[in-house]
Amino acid sequence: RTPEPLILTIFGASGDLTQRKLVPALYQLKKERRLPPEITIVGVARRDWSDDYFREQMRQGVEEFGGGIGNEAVWNDFAQGLFYCSGNMDEAASYEKLDTLLSELDGKRGTRGNRVFYLAVSPNFFVPGLRNLGAAGMLKDPIKNRVVIEKPFGKDLGSAKALNRVVQEVCREDQVYRIDHYLGKETVQNILVFRFGNAIFEPLWNRNYVDHIQITVAESVGVEDRAGYYETSGALRDMVQNHLMQLLAITAMDAPNSLDADSIRNEKVKVFQAMHLADTQNLDRSAIRGQYSAGWMKGKPIPGYREEPGVKPGTTTPTFVAMKLMIDNWRWKGVPFYLRTGKRLPKKVSEIAIQFKEVPLLIFQSAAQQTSPNILAMRIQPNEGINLRFEAKMPGPDLRTRTVDMDFSYGSSFGMETADAYNRLLLDCMLGDQTLFTRGDEVEEAWRVVTPALAAWDAPADPATIPQYEAGTWQPTEAEFLINRDGRRWRRL
Ligand code: BG6
Repeated sequence: RTPEPLILTIFGASGDLTQRKLVPALYQLKKERRLPPEITIVGVARRDWSDDYFREQMRQGVEEFGGGIGNEAVWNDFAQGLFYCSGNMDEAASYEKLDTLLSELDGKRGTRGNRVFYLAVSPNFFVPGLRNLGAAGMLKDPIKNRVVIEKPFGKDLGSAKALNRVVQEVCREDQVYRIDHYLGKETVQNILVFRFGNAIFEPLWNRNYVDHIQITVAESVGVEDRAGYYETSGALRDMVQNHLMQLLAITAMDAPNSLDADSIRNEKVKVFQAMHLADTQNLDRSAIRGQYSAGWMKGKPIPGYREEPGVKPGTTTPTFVAMKLMIDNWRWKGVPFYLRTGKRLPKKVSEIAIQFKEVPLLIFQSAAQQTSPNILAMRIQPNEGINLRFEAKMPGPDLRTRTVDMDFSYGSSFGMETADAYNRLLLDCMLGDQTLFTRGDEVEEAWRVVTPALAAWDAPADPATIPQYEAGTWQPTEAEFLINRDGRRWRRL
């Protein structure tokens, strides 16, 4: 399917996201002929740029971050549809000016009043942006007008609720596309196919067979040049409340009745509603924060988080979080979900691992017959794929066992690279498909789950009490205890 002709307005047009992700993704879609010829993109930002300058900036973005221009004719055609409108998100007059431009472009380019507004701006502009779009009547047509809201959606439960109220004041839920780019990753969508397109896994996917589940989202990069943002956010807000919670929900939810957006989102909400930190009385037994200290990675010295430019020396902002969560429903009662994410870990790797229970009676008991539990690991990135670990007999006359792997890899099975998450999400929102976007109630529930940890960690603390891990190592020892206490350990990745 190709979207209807439309104008995509990007607020935050001079920002990183637009140049690195959004426009390269749109251009890729153009090259793949997935966009209508009338597609028109209007960039809005405060700077006084011309259309030509905007086109030039976007071209650089595509060259640097989008794999290059390829065919000049295709670029020229695409660039003809790029326009710039300088404006201030706080000022009503800017929206009048924008609205006039959009109407003009509708006439020139045949976009028929279909408008998507993408708020690729810092979160303090979400409310003025939504209110002003609403006041200017730019969201009044529930079919033709849509709005995309980048993360973070709120900074805690209260602010997420307040933002949802503003959304409700200005438009309907089916006009809103809240982005969580993890949902756009191929492998995350594949979890749905894997679970609900195969008969053999689902019967095992519950407390009767699963011992526990581990979700790891590890990054090797540090805070980079985002200290300003990161200091106000930290790993719990930046990664756990959104990306890890979404991975968890897709792994744990019940089968939806259909693939439509609300069937899936209803199931995710139900999982969140049943979810809580393992021990709310004793936070240290369910949530551990950490910060990277100076270390070495790939033979290079790495500064600690507190030494990074723009970071307060005595900061308590976590760059690592480990959590133990429980889901009180028939499927999962008693099965722990261990989550961990952090910056400056040894490598970039994300996976969901389902560890199954031991066999009920172990008949292979000699030293040469050590068995380990079965693990099904779904690798989100890199080397996207699925791996099943099980026991096998080693060849030879003795009965010796060894753990072996059955491996499915996207690369070798499909012989193609997976597309960037933004390609898929931008296309879906232009097509009006909300399946891979989060709904208001879902976001609020995810905030509710992490609230006890947020409340404790937002309180002033002695910096000396924040667990540290050396850059290039997996986690602070406190996070080891979180899982070792239960007789389990983190996977070695
Ligand atoms: C973003 C976070 O949402 O996700 C970043 O703000 C993080 O801090 C990034 O680096 C990770 O995304 P990906 O797709 O590289 O795993």
